Amino acid sequence: MSDINIESLVRENIRKLKPYRSARDDFEKGLLLDANENSLGSVVRNSLDLHRYPTPAHDQLRKKIADWRQVDFENIFLGVGSDEPIDLLMRIFCEPGKDAIITTPPTYGMYKVAADINNVGVKEVLLTEKFQLRVDDILASTDESTTLLFLCSPNNPTANDLKQTDLLKLATKFPGIVVIDEAYIDFSSRESSAQLVQQYPNLVVLQTFSKSFGLAGIRLGIAISSPEIIQFMLKVKAPYNINKLSADVAMKAFDNMELLKFNIEKILDERDYVAEQLSHADAVEKVYPSDANFLLFKIKNSKEVYRKLAEKGVIVRYRGNEPHCEDCLRVTIGMPDENARFLKTLKEIVS
Ligand SMILES: Cc1ncc(COP(=O)(O)O)c(C=O)c1O
Repeated sequence: MSDINIESLVRENIRKLKPYRSARDDFEKGLLLDANENSLGSVVRNSLDLHRYPTPAHDQLRKKIADWRQVDFENIFLGVGSDEPIDLLMRIFCEPGKDAIITTPPTYGMYKVAADINNVGVKEVLLTEKFQLRVDDILASTDESTTLLFLCSPNNPTANDLKQTDLLKLATKFPGIVVIDEAYIDFSSRESSAQLVQQYPNLVVLQTFSKSFGLAGIRLGIAISSPEIIQFMLKVKAPYNINKLSADVAMKAFDNMELLKFNIEKILDERDYVAEQLSHADAVEKVYPSDANFLLFKIKNSKEVYRKLAEKGVIVRYRGNEPHCEDCLRVTIGMPDENARFLKTLKEIVS
């Protein structure tokens, strides 16, 4: 809703919250005797002044990300993975024991887990059998309590993009905050929705360094949204949530964007190869189209196949308990030799 009043959706205690302030919010240079650090230095040799706390907001890194996604610096929030912004959004917009989020299963499990942790309700509006949104059903299920809608595109575990027209319709009509989780966007041929935050103040786009950048180990996630929502997220986050080591590696990643593109292309080629090979296996009933770095496929005796693969050291994800995913396994695209081993082991099991 472009004319939505964001502040009216924010919990009263968060609106009134006086955030923690450290002296570093005002001064980053000088004789720093304000934060009870160890001025003698770190016991581990390093070039990052690790004996000092990191900057609270990481403006330099936020600027880099903003340039890359062609939005403004004020549109960027950094979290410990994208799991942190998911949790923060619930703490900002959902009154525990009263409000609810809407999710569209089968989808990423953390939305529900974060809601359960925060004692926030979950309304589920299933995707269609083709794994697309039921837009009218979602809108019909909204009421005063449903402040947050979580959408995931490309979706995990189904691997497909959601239709852009549906995303736009929901961003326009949903009377609350619409989150589009784009963890896998760089593997998709669809454009990111990041720039839409300039038009839709209720939109939050989540991205991450964990997938296309190959940096799951640094735990760095991104929320892109209107400056108003970003300000609430900055207000609620822990004072120094992003550590110096992660920020330093993320800055360096932007010097290696050719490698990022090269790796994405390689993963997409391998994905097409694995999908084709899977589709030739007799036991495989369906390989679902993928816009991500993984494949969802339906296979006879899926639970047994999953167990036997694991016994042979090949770990995939059983997704057969998810709606519309009966007998489905999810496999991440690995290195060429890993994919070959997966395919060979699977063939041995099902032949
Ligand atoms: C859709 C989706 N969103 C978010 C995440 C979590 O990402 P991060 O590593 O940034 O916490 C995942 C992880 O698999 C995911 O599949």
